[in-house]
Amino acid sequence: MKIYHLSAECYPVAKVGGLADVVGALPKYQNLAGLQAAVVLPFYDRKFTQENDFEIVFAAATLLGNRRLFFEILKEKTNKLGFELYLVKIPGLLDRENVYSYPDEREQFIAFQLAFLDWISYSQQTPDLIHCHDHHTGLVPFLLYHSKLYTRLAHTPTVFTIHNGQYHGAFGWDRLSLLPEIDLTKTGLLDWAGGINPLAAAVKCSWRYTTVSPTYLQELTYNSNGLEYLFYIERAKGSGIMNGIDTEVWNPQTDPMIPTKFSAKTLAKGKRANKEAICKRFELDPEKPLFTFIGRLVVEKGADLLPAAIERSLLENEGEINFVILGAGDKENELALLQLKNKYPEHCNVFIGYDESLAHLIYAGADFLLMPSRVEPCGLNQLYALRYGTMPIVRTTGGLNDSVIDFGDEGGYGIRFVQASVQDICHSVFRAKQLYQDTTKMQLLRKQMMALDFSWTRSTQQYIELYESLKLTI
Ligand code: ADP
Ligand code: GLC
Repeated sequence: MKIYHLSAECYPVAKVGGLADVVGALPKYQNLAGLQAAVVLPFYDRKFTQENDFEIVFAAATLLGNRRLFFEILKEKTNKLGFELYLVKIPGLLDRENVYSYPDEREQFIAFQLAFLDWISYSQQTPDLIHCHDHHTGLVPFLLYHSKLYTRLAHTPTVFTIHNGQYHGAFGWDRLSLLPEIDLTKTGLLDWAGGINPLAAAVKCSWRYTTVSPTYLQELTYNSNGLEYLFYIERAKGSGIMNGIDTEVWNPQTDPMIPTKFSAKTLAKGKRANKEAICKRFELDPEKPLFTFIGRLVVEKGADLLPAAIERSLLENEGEINFVILGAGDKENELALLQLKNKYPEHCNVFIGYDESLAHLIYAGADFLLMPSRVEPCGLNQLYALRYGTMPIVRTTGGLNDSVIDFGDEGGYGIRFVQASVQDICHSVFRAKQLYQDTTKMQLLRKQMMALDFSWTRSTQQYIELYESLKLTI
């Protein structure tokens, strides 16, 4: 089976969050399972593209409204990522450094989708399936089935995976002319709430859609930023498949980004050495339990609750705990955290920015990872933390609900709380601190966490079964 994955991000080419991790791993494991999965991304002018060799496999022009855009398809020469990687390059539009936040983001991703479709159409390819990820690629199913340009491909099955249903990529009908000629009797499929909504269009037009955890599939029917009714009526087409993690990249025994490698056997020594490395860097006392947060400092992640929760926890626990925060996002959250760092320099340190190696070090050396997410379609941080023997403290939402069992429950190994509130976070921090004092129990729980299997094996199989079921319906 030949499959194209279409995405805005893919690790290690271009990463902003978990979408990159998934698109950088799932195709690799699908190929190991016998599929022919390739990834198609926009071209970004970043380290990976600068340092690797590419060949031009196709060149043509596509039309974006009345703009004629010359594009090239570049293929990474060695397949070193475990899959064929294709980049769509369009001078001035798809050759920039960052993934998001350009004022013409809509044009950027529409052009990406059109160039992809033109490429497979002109080069007479017949993929067995096209797998689109998030709203940046959400117009592909509609265009495949309802634009005359791609009639030859109109029987191609499409699967659409929702990594984040909060973002829809919507834009006004005044920009319909950015799309190629479409069947105008089908415009209702593009519409939601009076605008063109790529996420809604993908849910309507793809053959099947998936979410990145089973709980998130349910949650979308009551929390999806206005698409609740759509998810409710289309629910028969949806399935929830929990993400896995790339156990080659995230392996404490071989991780080149951590100073001291460790296994379940050398856990105590290994974690201690990595904790000391973090504490040295951030000037904290390694004897105290170390709590951390890694991620986007946005409301979705509950990052706005952190400053108050950290301060109150420090007071309630009489300074017997420490915090390290790694992240970037909303300016007011960044500022509030930096103020906290100034106020409690012995207990709280903050790194504002994106740093992949530091993230690895923190997963390896911290004791507890806080995830007070309001929305968490899957969450990979808790899975990385578990693999490195760091206990996740999570709000029971989305994939956090599906992957973390409270240590107070049978077979449990983490800490769960229900409300995204300062109160619930502080209570959980208190429970964690109590547990930390019981070193034998903590050690046993860490071993248990490290033995959990969140590898891609099971989820890869679920995707393959989904693909196979679509083959039968062709
Ligand atoms: P999301 O995709 O919603 O941001 P996930 O939990 O799925 O959340 O994935 C986040 C990924 O991004 C993880 O690999 C995490 O380690 C990484 N990450 C987030 N923020 C940072 C940061 N500031 N520095 C380094 N890595 C980060
Ligand atoms: C999104 C979600 C996150 C998920 C990731 C990968 O960014 O916010 O919860 O883990 O996609 O699927």
